[in-house]
Amino acid sequence: MQYGILFMFLSTVTSFNYLPEIEIDLSATPKQRWKLAVRTILDLYGYQNSFGPVFEYHNKNTFYILEPQDYKTIANAIRTHYPEYSQELDGIVEEFNRNEITFEYLSAWAYFHEIAHISAEIIESTAVLLSTADQIIHGRNMDQGPPQIRNITLHLIIKKDGKYLGESVDWQWFKVGFVTLLKYNVASLDQNWKFSDPLTKDQLFTFIEQGVPSLAWEYRYVLINDNLNTFDRVVLYLEQNQVACAIYNVIGGTSKNQGVIISRDPFDMNPTISLNTSILGQTNYQYLVQTNYDHWLPDPQNDQRRTIAENLLGQLQTNLRNEFGVFTVMDTYPIHNEGTFYTIIMNAKYNRLIAFGQPSITQTDN
Ligand SMILES: *[C@@H]1O[C@H](CO)[C@@H](O)[C@H](O)[C@H]1NC(C)=O
Ligand SMILES: *[C@@H]1O[C@H](CO)[C@@H](O)[C@H](O)[C@H]1NC(C)=O
Repeated sequence: MQYGILFMFLSTVTSFNYLPEIEIDLSATPKQRWKLAVRTILDLYGYQNSFGPVFEYHNKNTFYILEPQDYKTIANAIRTHYPEYSQELDGIVEEFNRNEITFEYLSAWAYFHEIAHISAEIIESTAVLLSTADQIIHGRNMDQGPPQIRNITLHLIIKKDGKYLGESVDWQWFKVGFVTLLKYNVASLDQNWKFSDPLTKDQLFTFIEQGVPSLAWEYRYVLINDNLNTFDRVVLYLEQNQVACAIYNVIGGTSKNQGVIISRDPFDMNPTISLNTSILGQTNYQYLVQTNYDHWLPDPQNDQRRTIAENLLGQLQTNLRNEFGVFTVMDTYPIHNEGTFYTIIMNAKYNRLIAFGQPSITQTDN
């Protein structure tokens, strides 16, 4: 009997979990749009098991470089350049209903990624594109800290004017944007941290005051812009828009060979690599892997995720060149590691997005 209880306990803590699904209706008034998302997390886990420790952790490790005046500067810039998003943030602030969660505070979060590039360098994530006969399978693991981030992750289904536009899975949705996106019938997209020389804080603030969008708002723009309705147009846009920090965009399309990795830097031009161009002397790649380092450089010795994933993909048997095969790679240590808290598999051709929360794993757990 005791044995049975112990076994159940172990199988519970090590299993995947389903992510709460929320519909975001962009036709609702801006203040209403994200309220259900906030409420769902608070009802499910409570502030102390979700946002509380996440905010505390990043106040200490990411936002420590900000002075009180900096929050005001970012907030003013967002009010000026993004009135609609401002009202959405106001709605989120209302729903939190806590003294410390102000419009100024969430404004800094809107540029979390950009600020973290100056103050932190801890972020890892892995993306895989696999080209099969007529489709692209896109795998995405998100790795971050602290562990309570698991409890603020949502699966969002986005609609506007009664029409479903796409889906996203993320923990940073309270930036009112997306860093992972499936735009129906067009593309699957995700952003990966790119190590690079950081901007100075002054340079970053100049960009923010000029209205350069947060990275999360790039994908929001892709999602709602009717002209960005083909893979090629989305790629072109993300190669050319202005960014305020380094980033990789990993993008899968709806047909053969439509897969690219765009490497962006605020000042430098970088080559885009694709499934049908030559990389490192080899041609006709059937898969691409992106972690956090430039593709034209070897993996660092202490972080071999890309090499390991590429080797696994290179050896995939024919009957695994599909979503199962990509999932198997995403679920292998260290691609799935201590900091991984979700895995998603996207397929833009069939508008499929499969998402679940992942437990932390280490080599010895295996
Ligand atoms: C998530 O919230 C639950 C309470 O609902 C809590 O028991 C659990 O520890 C939290 N998970 C993490 C990773 O903190
Ligand atoms: C590679 O594929 C992209 C996207 O389908 C296409 O735009 C490009 O022309 C192709 N390049 C080559 C060299 O075939």
